[in-house]
Amino acid sequence: MWSREYLGGENLIKKGVKMVKVKSYANIAIVKYWGKKDAEKMIPSTSSISLTLNDMFTETEMEFINDEDIKIAVEKEIKSENCKDKFGDMTDLFYLNGELQDSVHTEKISKVVDLFRKNRSQKVKISTTNNMPTAAGLSSSSSGLSAVIKACNELFGKSYTQSELAQISKFGSGSSSRSFFGPVAAWDKDTGEIYEVKTDLRLAMIVLVLNENKKEISSRNGMELCAKTSTYFDEWVKQSEIDFINMKKYLAENDFEKVGTLTEENALRMHKTIETANPPFTYFNEKTYEAMDFVKNLRNNGEKCYFTMDAGPNVKVLCLEEDLEKLAGIFEEKYKIIVSKTVKL
Ligand code: ADP
Ligand code: DP6
Ligand code: CO
Repeated sequence: MWSREYLGGENLIKKGVKMVKVKSYANIAIVKYWGKKDAEKMIPSTSSISLTLNDMFTETEMEFINDEDIKIAVEKEIKSENCKDKFGDMTDLFYLNGELQDSVHTEKISKVVDLFRKNRSQKVKISTTNNMPTAAGLSSSSSGLSAVIKACNELFGKSYTQSELAQISKFGSGSSSRSFFGPVAAWDKDTGEIYEVKTDLRLAMIVLVLNENKKEISSRNGMELCAKTSTYFDEWVKQSEIDFINMKKYLAENDFEKVGTLTEENALRMHKTIETANPPFTYFNEKTYEAMDFVKNLRNNGEKCYFTMDAGPNVKVLCLEEDLEKLAGIFEEKYKIIVSKTVKL
């Protein structure tokens, strides 16, 4: 995939046309962003803190193309008249995990590219691959959208700072803004700032991959429904404010037990807004509950590990880097796992 002529840095030249290649890391929150106070200005209902993970990432290539390139790609894709409409009126080409995306999905990413280009006459082809399951609650939108933002920064010759890129990225996907900082990042709902949080703890995660399928309700739609209808939502926002302050304190004090305990509590509170939405729903399945119990039992037997879940059934286990190998050995007996240290950015 990366066999084209490479001219150093992040920039490549293909037949004299500039193209760029970037990598960006996913992040998993230990204090969750769940709800938008103002979707247009991208002000979240809750401040959040996350770990940026070295072994969960997206690789994205981007280049300029013209109308003819789009026509050829679409014609190649259209095998039956039926699906012709799906690819109509596309102004860019967007390949996600090797598949050409339809107009609806492409338009979403085109709007993100609009944040960098003068107008739509500057057409682009984006080819992006996630090394983790997409849209399964494993934070593919955080690495995916931050990668697009990084690629735009390169392709359009901008030289925004990490903070500036994070601020742009939140409009692509809120969680992606935190992927510009690491090992630990925060997004403050009141100041709007996105920044690195200092701690001497060397944190790590083990993802228990229980179901790789695309979720039925996206994070965006899920949190919107909860913010609008959950009877617990106000309480969630209030408690989350306290969680954010305490988590920063525990991280500064390097108190892993408190960090872990609060990580679990905060995740369960987020999921309570989902259970109390109207109509109520869940991202969990039987295996999710089993895995949560498994983690709790290990802890009762002296292991230092805590669970957290996002908008999907998969369980992530928070642990210390020093215990990663031992714990991975235990979990891999029972589960398909992704083991990851954090990354310093
Ligand atoms: P997740 O839990 O995986 O973050 P979300 O519902 O938040 O799930 O977001 C999934 C969406 O993010 C996908 O449907 C797609 O639109 C977008 N996405 C995922 N990976 C990429 C990528 N590599 N490049 C661009 N967009 C991506
Ligand atoms: C549960 O960033 O995926 O993962 O901003 O609408 O794109 P949009 O949603 P997204 O939401 C992430 C929610 C979460 C918790 C978190 O990462 O903080
Ligand atoms: Co997401």
